[in-house]
Amino acid sequence: MIKAIILDLDGVVTETSEYHFQGWKRLADEEGISFTREDNEQLRGVSRSKSLELLLGDHIDDYTKEEFQEMMDRKNGYYQEYLTEMGEDDLLSGARDLLNEIKERGLKMAIASASRNAKTVLEGLDITDEFDTISDGYSVENAKPAPDIFLHTAKKLGVKPEECVVLEDAESGVDAALAANMVAVGVGPKDRVGHGDYCFSSTADVDLNKIL
Ligand code: G6P
Ligand code: MG
Repeated sequence: MIKAIILDLDGVVTETSEYHFQGWKRLADEEGISFTREDNEQLRGVSRSKSLELLLGDHIDDYTKEEFQEMMDRKNGYYQEYLTEMGEDDLLSGARDLLNEIKERGLKMAIASASRNAKTVLEGLDITDEFDTISDGYSVENAKPAPDIFLHTAKKLGVKPEECVVLEDAESGVDAALAANMVAVGVGPKDRVGHGDYCFSSTADVDLNKIL
């Protein structure tokens, strides 16, 4: 029996990928490295350090460890600047109704996000109190596609992995949910997240009746 719904944040509840893109793009321009919107798609659900590795590609050898850290900090500074403009309007279409429906059904509800800014984003959206627990980029060492963040979240909720449904917009997130032995629901195009147990094209299309 399903007892809990675990939601990814960026791309399921809110769309921060444009802000991430602007931050990475600004950094890439400053470093003279090409970075397009298409490149940014690869960074969906990927940790900050792995994102910078992907952005740098072969240029990675031109930088020291300290410079790498400084670039992560610089991008995060830009990203946090954009986050100050965030408000309830930034909830994705259908997200508010989905949260309400999960609650009305008496299911537990959690956030499991790779982002170290997840709590700031939730505050900006004014939905922090909706969740029974929140796991973020500080919660576990191994990032998605490792199952760790979802297993950690289930433990905090006091439920078994097989009693959880995960909603994810990233390929690595669906992989992580499957590895955790949870019901994996892709939110987005089939060629990106169609390898889970269910797939809906957007948050507004998620059909809990079908899943449960
Ligand atoms: C989410 C986003 C990724 C981002 C990651 C880390 O998973 O989808 O694009 O890189 O979080 O975010 P952070 O806020 O810690 O840099
Ligand atoms: Mg996501």
